[in-house]
Amino acid sequence: MTRPTAKNPPRTFHVKSFGCQMNVYDGERMAEMLGAEGMTAVEEGLSADMVVLNTCHIREKAAEKVYSDIGRLRREDGTRPMIAVAGCVAQAEGPEITRRTKMVDIVVGPQAYHRLPELVGKAMRGEEALDTDMPAASKFGALPGRAKQPRPTAFLTVQEGCDKFCTYCVVPYTRGAEISRPWDAILDEAKALVDGGVKEITLLGQNVNAWVDDAGRGLHDLIRALDKIDGLARIRYTTSHPNDMADGLIAAHGDVEKLMPYLHLPVQSGSDPILKAMNRSHTRDSYLRLLDKVRAVRPDIALSGDFIVGFPGESEQDFEATMHLIREVGYAYAFSFKYSPRPGTPAADMTDQIAPEIMDARLKQLQAQIIADQLAFNQATVGKRCSVLIEKPGRKPGQLVGKSPWLQSVHVVAEGSRIGDMIEVDIVSAGPNSLAGEVVRRKAA
Ligand code: SAH
Ligand code: SF4
Ligand code: F3S
Repeated sequence: MTRPTAKNPPRTFHVKSFGCQMNVYDGERMAEMLGAEGMTAVEEGLSADMVVLNTCHIREKAAEKVYSDIGRLRREDGTRPMIAVAGCVAQAEGPEITRRTKMVDIVVGPQAYHRLPELVGKAMRGEEALDTDMPAASKFGALPGRAKQPRPTAFLTVQEGCDKFCTYCVVPYTRGAEISRPWDAILDEAKALVDGGVKEITLLGQNVNAWVDDAGRGLHDLIRALDKIDGLARIRYTTSHPNDMADGLIAAHGDVEKLMPYLHLPVQSGSDPILKAMNRSHTRDSYLRLLDKVRAVRPDIALSGDFIVGFPGESEQDFEATMHLIREVGYAYAFSFKYSPRPGTPAADMTDQIAPEIMDARLKQLQAQIIADQLAFNQATVGKRCSVLIEKPGRKPGQLVGKSPWLQSVHVVAEGSRIGDMIEVDIVSAGPNSLAGEVVRRKAA
């Protein structure tokens, strides 16, 4: 058995987040909170006094990864950092985690991490440090204000949880019921981020377009309010559910200048019987009609989606329907996964589970199509002039990398430009994963 070194309270920490962007956001908030407690972030886990593994439970592989990661925190001298398991595995497995490994000191769920400092104290005293409560009062009010951000882009969680209960998915169990953060809290956080140098904000939620407040305002109202913040240049949001794609939000894509032409709208399957078995509550047709509406107001929009292959009962014909839908839409990006049975979800108990080799073959076929479509989308932007928000240095000297409005990575040599600048670029070439651009030279006046 390994033992934590700390006899004194931990002074340094390392947070490692897995899974979705909401987990990344939570990881940042935890880091900012530990920073406010006087602790210092370090780059690497083994040398830290305390490590937070902010975990994901969405597929079996993701959930199992946490145990191998914990094992890697054992040092050669038999000691280890204090270890906290946070995130969705913490919520789903709770006390199972400390039963399965003696290397974990703290287990804290996604709705309870504002109590992490208290839990550190408990762990120091050798008390049980487990908190997977989903308190009625949201954690956000108990967190310190946003710190100055190191990057020009930031995430901002506005909605959490899910009431949709797709039959394959753990999120409603790990994140709890849908809640929307209040209007003022969101705008205050956005302003603090912009004051700290942020130019682009991505609003986050498991079903972000279900955001609603007591006054009946929806996500599009929030986007229109953010549009008025001076200094904020770009707004994005993710992930949306087809059923919550209100007309007002679609309209915002037509006339809110700061709202970027990108929409992540997962469909999962192109076959109606499978969509029904998944409890998705949209059909192939209703989904395609939605996309038509969005493209009518914003023809250049980059569409992205999520796909699951090998859901129980998926026939060759069902899979073909998915391939057909993909070809019909022409996605700019897509994320695709083999179905992974999750304990406690209805689909895990369905008969007709699909053999792994069939899933592999289907995934390969689907991904080949997606890569071809992605390349076609990128190639169609060659010759266009667009803004690029510079996010980081490139590999070659003088090169910078930023994002186009359509979320493509753009490599550009731009002397005199810095991270955080918005520059005008002509796109000159495209590959499946990135574009190359040239800075638009302004004529001397
Ligand atoms: N709320 C979002 C997505 C949350 S999870 C939505 O409804 O679209 C992200 C993606 O993981 C899902 O869109 C789905 O494609 C995938 N996913 C969820 N559960 C899965 C499972 N059991 N097996 C494989 N993929 C899964
Ligand atoms: Fe999971 Fe479905 Fe909720 Fe998305 S909408 S988080 S896939 S249950
Ligand atoms: Fe994973 Fe939880 Fe996000 S299960 S995908 S970290 S909501």
